[in-house]
Amino acid sequence: VLPAPNIHGRPDVYELENAAADPERRIELAMAGVADWEGEVLVDVGAGTGFHLERFHERAAHVIAVEPHAPTRLRALERVARLGLERVSVLAAGAEDLGLRDRSVGVTHSRFAYFFGPGCEPGLAELARVVRAGGTAFVVDNELRSGTFASWLRRSEWCRWAEPDRVEAFWAASGFTSRTVETEWRFDRREDMEAVVRLEFPAALAEAILAEHPGTRVEYHVRVRHRRY
Ligand SMILES: C[S@@+](CC[C@H](N)C(=O)[O-])C[C@H]1O[C@@H](n2cnc3c(N)ncnc32)[C@H](O)[C@@H]1O
Repeated sequence: VLPAPNIHGRPDVYELENAAADPERRIELAMAGVADWEGEVLVDVGAGTGFHLERFHERAAHVIAVEPHAPTRLRALERVARLGLERVSVLAAGAEDLGLRDRSVGVTHSRFAYFFGPGCEPGLAELARVVRAGGTAFVVDNELRSGTFASWLRRSEWCRWAEPDRVEAFWAASGFTSRTVETEWRFDRREDMEAVVRLEFPAALAEAILAEHPGTRVEYHVRVRHRRY
């Protein structure tokens, strides 16, 4: 299990972050324009507490949430039960070994999970094994070069490792096409935004960001990558 201090440590605050993210659902729109999941088996790899399952469940034939961190996975199970999502399965597995049959999946989605660039080759090999011919894998991650959120990331000690050119070259060499989706965080309450900024950034930087950024909206660009098999 790769450490994910945000969702593992404060799933309640991470829920606020997900709820504020991409209010117009531009990410799903961009995905659906490439490959629709209507009637497909869709796997959400690194599904966390399952925030995105309900949206995929609306049109997919079946949704499989894969989440290796037990307490987080239990929250996904609780969500599935609470929302009555009858065509969702939750698996204790990870990206390197999905525990699914060869060529059994039409679409995969992975958001801010495992597929961060160099180092995720075992997961890419596993996607190539489980996705059927003509199926599509999607990876959603931060755009590191544009948007207000990226400018904050570049100031963070925690993101020293992020080298945008190397990451982009890796994905291109891995057969993925990437596009930038310009979206935003839109919070209902300032205090929710403050909690999320404090979750995602070291303390001193979080306070500096909050002092200079008023309001409840933050420009946030993501990279939506896909590969067809
Ligand atoms: C930042 S969270 C994102 C969760 C979810 N995709 C979302 O957007 O709400 C990253 C997730 O990846 C999971 N993860 C860690 N190691 C993993 C692995 N080897 N394979 C798949 N997922 C992994 C973590 O447990 C965590 O739930």
